[in-house]
Amino acid sequence: MKYSSSTTAVPDAPAVPRHVAIIMDGNGRWATKRFLPRVAGHVKGVEAVRTVVEACARRGVEYLTVFAFSSENWRRPEEEVSLLMRLFVTALEREVSKLHANNIRLKVVGDLSRFDAKLQGMIASAERKTAANTRMTVTVCANYGGRWDIMQAVGKMVATHPGATDFTEEQLAPHLAMAYAPEPDLFIRTGGEQRISNFLLWQLAYTELFFTDAYWPDFSIDHLDAAIASYQNRERRFGRTGAQLAEKTS
Ligand code: IPE
Ligand code: IPE
Ligand code: MG
Repeated sequence: MKYSSSTTAVPDAPAVPRHVAIIMDGNGRWATKRFLPRVAGHVKGVEAVRTVVEACARRGVEYLTVFAFSSENWRRPEEEVSLLMRLFVTALEREVSKLHANNIRLKVVGDLSRFDAKLQGMIASAERKTAANTRMTVTVCANYGGRWDIMQAVGKMVATHPGATDFTEEQLAPHLAMAYAPEPDLFIRTGGEQRISNFLLWQLAYTELFFTDAYWPDFSIDHLDAAIASYQNRERRFGRTGAQLAEKTS
């Protein structure tokens, strides 16, 4: 994809968001409310991912990105972390062929070096298998952190321009982990918190933000449609005035 940036040029504001990025939060509280172990919420959360992948594909979303495990989630109890890893393995085992059958490409971004060799191998083979699929790209952010992403991109940028001291956004952006996707149009966070939690810090510069109290396992097609409807009511000015926009569209 040609490099495009919301800060270096005014992007289009498509009616259906081309790229939806989601912080899937509230699994633990969903389970606790039901006197279940937290992991039951994560298991149920995988079902919600399936629903949202399908609904986004039907609505013509081109890129769906979900935050599955942050670089800070290692701070959780060891038992929860290892259950999450196992769940990731089973989800890959069960879902990849379905994604492939539906012409969906899977990408996993983050510092994958911290995962065990089996999981890394499964990720590589899932990405390889689905690489040529064109209907939609689903990106799972795993051991991802926005600061990690910017730092690793800076490292690569510096290495490709030895001796340089002055850099442009265009030189950095191709090294970001999601350089293959446009910046998100719509960001959704479930679970009631209104924060970014070190998700796509660079890429969210001009993304429309939508927060809902629904816990992720309860997130349904209706919630998705409410988020898209809210997005469609926004005036995406990208720094310009409302009058300038009205002039352009009249
Ligand atoms: C999101 O749900 C899933 C992950 C971070 C892996 P949480 O596990 O954060 O659920 P709450 O926020 O504790 O309810
Ligand atoms: C953000 O949720 C990360 C994921 C959903 C993977 P957290 O539950 O980890 O975020 P904080 O700790 O409440 O900010
Ligand atoms: Mg949480």
